Amino acid sequence: MAKYRIAWLPGDGIGRDVLDATKIVLDRLGVDVEYLPGDIGWEFWCREGDPLPQRTIELMKATDCAMFGAITSKPRTVAEEELSPQLQNKGHVYRSPIVRMRQLLDLYICRRPCFAYPGNPLNYREGIDLVVFRENTEDLYAGVEYYPVPEEMFRVKGMERVARDAAISIKVNTPRGCRRIIEAAFEFAKDKKRRKVTCVHKANVVRVTDGLFLETFNEVSSSYPSIQPDEANIDSLCQWLLKRPLDYDVLVAPNLYGDIISDLCAQLTGGLGFGASGNIGVDYAVFEPTHGSAPKYAGMYRVNPIATILAASMMLEWLGEVQAAMRVSKAIASVIQEGKVRTYDMSGSASTLDMGQAIADKC
Ligand code: NAI
Ligand code: MG
Repeated sequence: MAKYRIAWLPGDGIGRDVLDATKIVLDRLGVDVEYLPGDIGWEFWCREGDPLPQRTIELMKATDCAMFGAITSKPRTVAEEELSPQLQNKGHVYRSPIVRMRQLLDLYICRRPCFAYPGNPLNYREGIDLVVFRENTEDLYAGVEYYPVPEEMFRVKGMERVARDAAISIKVNTPRGCRRIIEAAFEFAKDKKRRKVTCVHKANVVRVTDGLFLETFNEVSSSYPSIQPDEANIDSLCQWLLKRPLDYDVLVAPNLYGDIISDLCAQLTGGLGFGASGNIGVDYAVFEPTHGSAPKYAGMYRVNPIATILAASMMLEWLGEVQAAMRVSKAIASVIQEGKVRTYDMSGSASTLDMGQAIADKC
């Protein structure tokens, strides 16, 4: 049996393109890995009514970690003719399985490094080096939503202010959920000798849930005297990130704010083609690009696979294959610096696979 077993989940759209390029790089490293392909995505929803079939969950449980591409996840009602006959006339509404996957496997850390590689023509500013820690299982993504709101909920104090025809989504933050993501951010900062951790919140308005997040941050930060604690409201932070991105280092946020600032930080360092992501739990992790399935580029092998190749480097580090991880990240840096091979987003004409090949050749 191979040393590592990795679930290989391309998913939809450009998920396949970027994973194909990533495989070229991984195959060059000589790490003893068995890749086990798994079914996930839109296609399986249409055929089976479940975009994350139970067999894929079992596959993930039987592997060390997973590499994942992307999924088409906009909730929408589907035309009946797109569904398999047994699902027709059942009024199905598609929902993303990614949030479910993160909750099911308790992948509570979403770590997203955003580094301005020297020589990247898309850098907003040289020297940007941010790492987002997004809480990955709670907050408005907990999935507690009502429309219509059940009558008995209106008996709860405060609900008299809510209109009878309202739709409501409940924001859920737990002390444990807040603590473990904040501790993960500080532990990372300590380990990597980073200077500062910024807590992203809106506690001045969302007093209870974000208040708990900020309070927990203040408690945890006192155990890390060598790291500067900092806090900012999400709205204000967005403008400061654009104005003074070099002032920021590690950022920790509840799920929704973390989702939002991830795309902003990715854009500061080259766009979605550079945003890598690790969904990390206690003993399992799923690595993926931050971007989605970009349907208009699906199967064209035009998009930039660097985000996914960086995610593969994060995966190797997580597995303990530190040398291999460094070979990949150095190769990415070198290809960007050289500037000979560039995909369309970098105003080049290289294909997704050309980029994978160029990075593999430098490993
Ligand atoms: P998207 O991230 O798929 O693409 C937006 C745009 O960003 C693309 O049109 C393209 O211009 C650019 N882009 C994305 N990836 C790129 C790459 N690797 N290289 C160069 N340019 C790149 O976001 P969009 O269009 O809002 O969503 C498409 C679908 O993906 C939706 O169904 C959405 O719900 C889903 N989605 C899935 C995610 C996931 O699987 N983790 C995350 C985000 C969105
Ligand atoms: Mg997002």
